[in-house]
Amino acid sequence: MTEFQIISIILAAGKGTRMRSNRPKVMHEIAGLPMLGHVMTTLKGLNANAPAVVVGPDMQSVRDYVAPYPVYLQSEQRGTAHAVLAALPHFAKVVKGCLLIAYGDTPFITQETLAKMVTQIQAGAKAVVLGFDADDPSGYGRLVMKGTRLEKIVEQRDADADQQVISLCNSGIMALDVVQAKQYLPQITAQNQAGEFYLTDFVQIMTAAGHAVSVEVTDASEVVGINSRAQLAAAEKLWQQKKRLAVMAAGVTLQDPDSVYFSYDTRIAPDVEIAPHVVFGPKVEIEARARVRAFSHLEGCILQADSDVGPFARLRPGTVIGRKAKIGNFVEVKNAQFEAGAKAGHLSYIGDATIGAKANIGAGTITCNYDGVGKARTAIGADAFIGSNTALVAPVSVGQGALIGAGSVITVDVPADAIAVTRATLSQKPQAASTYREKKLAAKK
Ligand code: UD1
Ligand code: CA
Repeated sequence: MTEFQIISIILAAGKGTRMRSNRPKVMHEIAGLPMLGHVMTTLKGLNANAPAVVVGPDMQSVRDYVAPYPVYLQSEQRGTAHAVLAALPHFAKVVKGCLLIAYGDTPFITQETLAKMVTQIQAGAKAVVLGFDADDPSGYGRLVMKGTRLEKIVEQRDADADQQVISLCNSGIMALDVVQAKQYLPQITAQNQAGEFYLTDFVQIMTAAGHAVSVEVTDASEVVGINSRAQLAAAEKLWQQKKRLAVMAAGVTLQDPDSVYFSYDTRIAPDVEIAPHVVFGPKVEIEARARVRAFSHLEGCILQADSDVGPFARLRPGTVIGRKAKIGNFVEVKNAQFEAGAKAGHLSYIGDATIGAKANIGAGTITCNYDGVGKARTAIGADAFIGSNTALVAPVSVGQGALIGAGSVITVDVPADAIAVTRATLSQKPQAASTYREKKLAAKK
């Protein structure tokens, strides 16, 4: 017996003119991930077959992004049905299964909804259209029902007055029995106001051939389409709101959820506390009971259990903050590993470095990791003490338990347990300050 297959196609060839961008629309990001990536992730989670993406000309960035998944070129944008047929080789040989059609600019579609549609096809339905109830249906195709069956979809510009007021709209997402798809998609013509091959005409063709088409209805928030920068911002907001709720439901404290911005891949363990105005870039993982204080910006880093970061901390890629380690205000850390209990409390730049357990980095310490040409590393041993305002000129190391006097410029390796200090000789003139001031005041008169 031939196995039932799930094939999926993502339409992404549209120019996205309303974005006013040189970047293809589907590459614009939501929570740091191109909107196309959101759809691809969802489809990948759903089925074993790789989703195929239909692109337009000059969309190399999309091709690069999609690789190694299959890409099909629709060389002219002649409508949604035309786009699906551009990917015909993707399903031409499939004899039994469901063809899922998703849109690259409709990123929030969920696996649950798609699975429901697939299940209907598996149970014998020939076509399922995903609909939603729109507060403002303008711009969307209207679903014209006859009882529980879909009679046809009428595009906004082809709709008459009665059809204009229908609020049940076409999300664009469809599940088709692959046999019917192959038979009827090529019958769609371009006889409409826009002269385009409308995928929506599939419904009428099916109905005329005596096949029922059903509608699966979902919440409007799941099928918001993005056509403009304003809609992109609205989608970002929607995504963030959902993520904040999910994070809190998983046991994380957000003191002011609306001011915290997550990335698509942020991972946070229970009992983490996040203060207001914290922004997460990509690839951040936070372990249990860690604390992130206000106005911190984190990306590409791991905060181990019970660590404490901020306020006003900037953690950049390659950073690991160990258990119970502490990063204080106005500290920037890049590609550096703080071992358990290490501290950098104030006003420092620590880049390309390893900081041993319980080492203390004094205020104003700078790792001079860049000489204008290349980068070099700094290694600081466990329990070392780096005095305030120290410049560590890399490559350089400070051994375990060593002590660096404040204001030093360290250019050679300091052995374990040594004291190192570089400081100009102090000169003092007793009672000189008042004499100096009097002289200055006299000159002013
Ligand atoms: C389409 C639907 C409409 C639905 C709406 C939901 C049709 C005819 N209309 O209208 O009923 O309410 O989506 O958002 O299907 N694309 C291509 N090649 C093309 C044209 C479009 O790949 O030649 C892609 C676009 O990149 C986009 C998607 O198909 O991802 C939808 O195209 P768009 O032009 O935005 O369709 P709408 O006018 O919004
Ligand atoms: Ca659209």
